[in-house]
Amino acid sequence: MSDFEDKVRETLANPQNQGEMQDADSVGTVGSPDCGDMLRMWLKFTEKDGKKVIDKASFQSFGCQTAIAVASMATEMLKGKTLDEASKLNAQELSGDLGALPPMKIHCGQLVEGALKNALDSNPSNSANDSASTTNTL
Ligand code: FES
Ligand code: FES
Repeated sequence: MSDFEDKVRETLANPQNQGEMQDADSVGTVGSPDCGDMLRMWLKFTEKDGKKVIDKASFQSFGCQTAIAVASMATEMLKGKTLDEASKLNAQELSGDLGALPPMKIHCGQLVEGALKNALDSNPSNSANDSASTTNTL
């Protein structure tokens, strides 16, 4: 078994930040045409040093184990990031400690990246209490 698969397995034993966030400021959903999987990410924002940063993130994934592992890593990593920093993270960076995404699994990471970008895009900059949702296909 590869290192990557070991790490995915380890992460799945105790996935972080799974489930709908009731008080989220924004939500993004993305579906993958490659495998039919779907992933949704919720974000809650806060202010730090006059900047809007991610306070917490959560996700729900339907089906894919790799996407769940990446989303678990990503939602931990996103805490405290500014919106600008978060929007620059790609699938590989979001996979964090899992290591390099194998070619067959790159689209699983992109599912997480896509859901994050949709959640950031749907964030209403003025009214933090307005939940907005965007649904897109990669
Ligand atoms: Fe099962 Fe992606 S559909 S791993
Ligand atoms: Fe499709 Fe992982 S196999 S998202």
